[in-house]
Amino acid sequence: MNILETISQRRSVRSFSSTIMDRREMESVRGILERAASEPGPFGARIRCKLHVDTVGSGEARLGTYGLISGASAFVLPILAPAPGAMEDLGWVVEKAVIDLWAAGWASCWIGGVFSRTKAAGLAGASGEEYVPIVVALGKEAERRSFMDKLIARASRSRQRRALAELCFLPDGSALNGDALASPWNIVLEALRVAPSASNKQPWRLVWDPLALRWMLFLDEDRFYNNSLGNTHLQNIDMGIAMYHFAAAAGCAGLKGSWTPLVEREGFFAEAGGEGVKSMIDMGRKKGWEPIAMWR
Ligand SMILES: Cc1cc2nc3c(=O)[nH]c(=O)nc-3n(C[C@H](O)[C@H](O)[C@H](O)COP(=O)(O)O)c2cc1C
Repeated sequence: MNILETISQRRSVRSFSSTIMDRREMESVRGILERAASEPGPFGARIRCKLHVDTVGSGEARLGTYGLISGASAFVLPILAPAPGAMEDLGWVVEKAVIDLWAAGWASCWIGGVFSRTKAAGLAGASGEEYVPIVVALGKEAERRSFMDKLIARASRSRQRRALAELCFLPDGSALNGDALASPWNIVLEALRVAPSASNKQPWRLVWDPLALRWMLFLDEDRFYNNSLGNTHLQNIDMGIAMYHFAAAAGCAGLKGSWTPLVEREGFFAEAGGEGVKSMIDMGRKKGWEPIAMWR
């Protein structure tokens, strides 16, 4: 299975088999987590990923996911210290792990809503300023899905995605029919489109600059939703996930390029690259979007 196939096949699983991971499996999962976190994401933040396996009771009880997830005894706990772009980098690093874990036969579900951040930080051994903004439930998929699983998947219409024409734009702000874009960009956009996002809100917006052959990525933020969890911003994590899907697919399609941060937060503003970029940023801001990064 190549990475494009894995990206299109991955889905959130909320009902896990209750079999506890054995030592060999733990080693293999830890290896995948270490590889994913071995390099920082595009914003340069360091993320550590700890595997927590509950060998005695249910991990859900310990982490307080309260019936949302059934049967999971293993969780990935990503640990970070506050830094500009750290949310995006967490999305990048953890999604890289999620994709590699799926390819290795492990199902998962991101959990950013209901869980105990204090307990997760304790189990992860977070120190000082460090914290655990989200956790990922991990395991083998159960043969039968729980009632909650079906309910949540239906509520978030989890398999549905916006059409590319709702996500992609031209520098003048008009919609770009992504489907009409010449391959291989098509493959890359499709990989981004199927990315998981918190409550399946799909807040990614892309602007294609046909003259300079570059993409600008914006966040169409739901301000209340994205700012209701203190220093955890789920939709910025969504952006990092999407950036990873885009970059992985571009790599697969032989398209050279990389992300340059455009995050303006806490006094940090990366070099943007000229007037053309500024006018695209202004256009995005008029639509109420926050600039995140540029691909070239
Ligand atoms: C940052 C983030 C946080 C999430 N938090 C939760 C959560 O708290 N509970 C849950 O059941 N699903 C959660 N999800 C899973 C999304 O609901 C799911 O990815 C989305 O509905 C798309 O479905 P899919 O992953 O099956 O493609 C989260 C996903 C992301 C990316």
